[in-house]
Amino acid sequence: KPSRTVIAMAGSGKNGTKDSISKLISDLNSAKLEPDVDVVVAPPFVYIDQVKNSITDRIEISAQNSWVGKGGAFTGEISVEQLKDLGCKWVILGHSERRHVIGEKDEFIGKKAAYALSEGLGVIACIGELLEEREAGKTFDVCFQQLKAYADAVPSWDNIVIAYEPVWAIGTGKVASPEQAQEVHVALRDWLKNNVSAEVASKTRIIYGGSVNGGNSSELAKKEDIDGFLVGGASLKGPEFATIVNSVT
Ligand code: G3P
Repeated sequence: KPSRTVIAMAGSGKNGTKDSISKLISDLNSAKLEPDVDVVVAPPFVYIDQVKNSITDRIEISAQNSWVGKGGAFTGEISVEQLKDLGCKWVILGHSERRHVIGEKDEFIGKKAAYALSEGLGVIACIGELLEEREAGKTFDVCFQQLKAYADAVPSWDNIVIAYEPVWAIGTGKVASPEQAQEVHVALRDWLKNNVSAEVASKTRIIYGGSVNGGNSSELAKKEDIDGFLVGGASLKGPEFATIVNSVT
């Protein structure tokens, strides 16, 4: 079974200020976190340095996005090289807001993943269906297509965590039921088995995101194929985030 992982989007998107992040870091530094769980926080770019300089080494840092290739004159973008320079170990790619608000396409996201991996960053590869896609019975088709775009682009799955985030569950308070999430996770694992390899299928961590909180995480975590969480809103409260981390063992 893959190891467990919890990724926090601590201060995700435009959330967070230097003061709020400082409080969050101090809560996380003093929290008792289960040693078997990999814990990663993903502050907005502008706070990465602050977080890296004050958070315990127990917790790794992720960015929320990265540029698609080698750094250069791409005004406003942040390169993989810069993220590494700041001490990031991970990058989140293909988040629903990047896909559906900014308009990033599967192939572009796959290229980003391949480049980040080639430079030694781990990739948290997000996928997930819209509500209308679920209601039209297309959940698996959409998720498989997004997963295939990563599979077509990356040379190895050693450093990838898949994050399944149904878009209708993100920031809405409508968490997927443990059965709904498990159904997709097992299908994703089967897809990996049939299209990549049995070894990759069994080793790759598949985490769930979308309205995870301290009250629902332990029931979700009991499901065989849910290997951890990508947490947004609930990661803004240190003690609740620690509860989520400690619920996945
Ligand atoms: O990436 C995490 C985010 O998409 C989930 O947000 O607030 O529903 O936990 P939230």
